[in-house]
Amino acid sequence: MTSQEIRQSFLDFFESKGHKIVPSAPMVIKDDPTLMFTNAGMNQFKNIILGNDPIVYSRVADSQKCLRVSGKHNDLEEVGHDTYHHTMFEMLGNWSFGDYFKKEAIAWAWEYLVDVLKIDKERLYVTVFEGSPAEGLSRDDEAAEIWSQFLPSSRIINGNKKDNFWEMGDTGPCGPCSEIHIDLRDDDERAKVDALSLINNDHPQVIEIWNNVFMQFNRKADGSLEDLPAKVIDTGMGFERLCMALQGKKSNYDTDVFQPVIQEIARLTGYKYGENAKVDIAMRVIADHIRTIAFSITDGQLPSNAKAGYVIRRILRRAVRYGYTFLEQRSAFMYKLIPTLISVMGGAYPELISQQQLIEKVTKEEEDSFLRTLETGIRLLDKVMDDARKDGKTEISGKEAFTLYDTFGFPLDLTELILRENNFTVNVDEFNSEMQKQKERARNAAAIETGDWVVVREGESRFVGYDVTEAETEILRYRKVKQKNKEFYQIVLSVTPFYAEMGGQVGDSGTLTSENGRIEIIDTKKENNLSVHITEKLPEDVTETFTAVINLENRMATSCNHSATHLLHEALREILGEHVEQKGSYVSPDSLRFDFSHFQKMTKEEIREAEHLVNRRIRENFPLHDMRELPIAEAQGMGAMALFGEKYGEKVRVVRFGSSVELCGGTHVNSTGQIGMLRIVSENSIAAGVRRIEAITASKLEEMFDMQQDMMASVRELFNNTPSLVTAVQKTIEENADLKKQLEDFMREKIVSLRDKVLSNVEEINGIKVIHLNLEAAPDMIKTLAFQIRNVVSENLFFVAGSVNDGKPSLTVLLSDDLVAKGLNAVNIAREAAKEIQGGGGGQPFFAAAGGKNPSGIEKAIAKALEAIK
Ligand code: SER
Repeated sequence: MTSQEIRQSFLDFFESKGHKIVPSAPMVIKDDPTLMFTNAGMNQFKNIILGNDPIVYSRVADSQKCLRVSGKHNDLEEVGHDTYHHTMFEMLGNWSFGDYFKKEAIAWAWEYLVDVLKIDKERLYVTVFEGSPAEGLSRDDEAAEIWSQFLPSSRIINGNKKDNFWEMGDTGPCGPCSEIHIDLRDDDERAKVDALSLINNDHPQVIEIWNNVFMQFNRKADGSLEDLPAKVIDTGMGFERLCMALQGKKSNYDTDVFQPVIQEIARLTGYKYGENAKVDIAMRVIADHIRTIAFSITDGQLPSNAKAGYVIRRILRRAVRYGYTFLEQRSAFMYKLIPTLISVMGGAYPELISQQQLIEKVTKEEEDSFLRTLETGIRLLDKVMDDARKDGKTEISGKEAFTLYDTFGFPLDLTELILRENNFTVNVDEFNSEMQKQKERARNAAAIETGDWVVVREGESRFVGYDVTEAETEILRYRKVKQKNKEFYQIVLSVTPFYAEMGGQVGDSGTLTSENGRIEIIDTKKENNLSVHITEKLPEDVTETFTAVINLENRMATSCNHSATHLLHEALREILGEHVEQKGSYVSPDSLRFDFSHFQKMTKEEIREAEHLVNRRIRENFPLHDMRELPIAEAQGMGAMALFGEKYGEKVRVVRFGSSVELCGGTHVNSTGQIGMLRIVSENSIAAGVRRIEAITASKLEEMFDMQQDMMASVRELFNNTPSLVTAVQKTIEENADLKKQLEDFMREKIVSLRDKVLSNVEEINGIKVIHLNLEAAPDMIKTLAFQIRNVVSENLFFVAGSVNDGKPSLTVLLSDDLVAKGLNAVNIAREAAKEIQGGGGGQPFFAAAGGKNPSGIEKAIAKALEAIK
């Protein structure tokens, strides 16, 4: 079976067992502070598992894009070095939310592997949780019992908490699990060593392929376990490993998922796969990482310097580095792999196709910039080695290696490699201790302590802020959060008019008022689908009834900007083309920011056109059509614009103004006329292929117009209130240029007459023509004068001029070349003489100038210079 067929067969099998097939959630997670990337299929169901969201389908199956590069599940360092770990991989999974449990999950897993895929059942082994007395958990006898219907008890093995108790993160859903392992070794090897001794022992052909988790608990922040509202089945099968098993390969990278990309790497670099261990590792790293990079870009996560973007940047750099070191790639080349990657993955993930150009541009730019950094780092390292050599050392300090790591992204192994080629070593202990120090610094800076929720009353939270701006409400729960030295509270309300920050729109602020007082809500954020209201102070009595009121002025301004963003999005697609896709937005009361894919700077005309189009639609005063709870298919049928990397449910909200139709959760004006007007204030590039527009609307725009008009009025006043300001300014500029030219002409004439006067009055001392004078002129002019004299008197010339200009003394010395040849040096003469004016200077042996602080010493300085002739 091809990988495509394998993926499909899994989904078909579980569909036949009554499962709803759902799409993969985005790989980059936006509203869960405990998780940066999807690391398991269950992430997108976390809220259902915790009971925060209702169960829509109790049986679900999918193929989920996962990324394990940070946090609790991090495989990054293994990737490439072994043949079965990946940064990004696909996880095939089936779920039951309060429906079936262990019996069915186990039986279907067996049926799928053995009956459908015809995997040799003699090669399968399973593990069950051995229990953990410390946590009060006993052995999973139930799972073992069910498994024993399918395979002999000798192949059912106990596993410890590390391997057989699955947890999503430090907190969240968890439970005992049962893993299915497969032995893919050749028969003679199997005869020699029993697979039992190789399970969970890093053998590349005796590996876990499928994990069945029996979710029963929620791990709380204090480390304790509480029961989940309903029992849940969560299974995850490594798609790439399954492909290896079914395609009879010994490595994930030998399957049709990776081979085309690896062959393309071989073609581009001229190296072969399978001949040299280091080259192979590099090729695997690149083949793996390019998938992660491409998929995160389509998910809207560009490489950057912070958070998720930084993780992606580091992955990309890791690949560049392997290419640089082991495949001798000195210029960008990974972006050339994208077409091949698309030929493998584009069928299942069409977003790769529609965003191909963007992926290539971003990848290339990142490669180029990191390669430049590498070159700089290598030069730096050369210098460090040179210095060490001078001191007779062959070791460089760990501090220096750490600087390279920290500022240039040089991992220690790369530094070591370069050092080794030059017979150098590095102090690794010192490096590690620097690293440790930095980690501690980072940990202290990022530490957030979140307390457990204090439940005031049970109930669901309801958002009413699309329709009203204040509401009667009660507190459902609250908790304390500590970040750095700040302490604040998060509150969940039963009914809330507060919009929680989401989809680029900032959260509402406002107040909670009761008979006993009022507290300020400073912000509202979304966490795991809950709206949390942030306040520095809790109400005295949390059980009271409150009136929640939002800051209306801010909300109105924000809504104007949000609706304007939709109109702008539409206008840009009309003017620039359909390749324009939203890559991010930020909507606040002050302004709006809109990021979109486009490959060159917008022209002035295009910007104007976009403004005009938006403003026309504002004036047409289109009413808001706010369609909530629309089935997603219907919304798509209306041509609603959706974003990749956003998670949409079955039912969506559609916001329409005229022909602008978008899937959107934000707040909006009632009709476009309320926006008043839009003005684009800047248009820039923020990454390869991504542009950013900033714009303002409504009263902010009025403020800007006021300011501009006031400024114009002041300028006009300077020009005697002329009706034609441009003509007046132009005239002034022309006059100025004219005057400048006249001045230059005048100076030139003056210098010529000065030169002639000076030349008619030359003194001779010891056969040398000496010119010394004290005059009031700018240093530039004196220089010109000196050079003009040199043109006339080319031999035996000694020129010295002192000058006090604007109260500043200066001294100029010029010698003809023959005097320089005889050993005189203008620099020395000027420096020595300038002591009299408390100054210093420099120049060349034939010409030097010096400035000083003491104008009264100028005559003495000239006299001092003249001494040189003697
Ligand atoms: N959550 C489990 C895992 O990631 C099973 O899907 O392994």
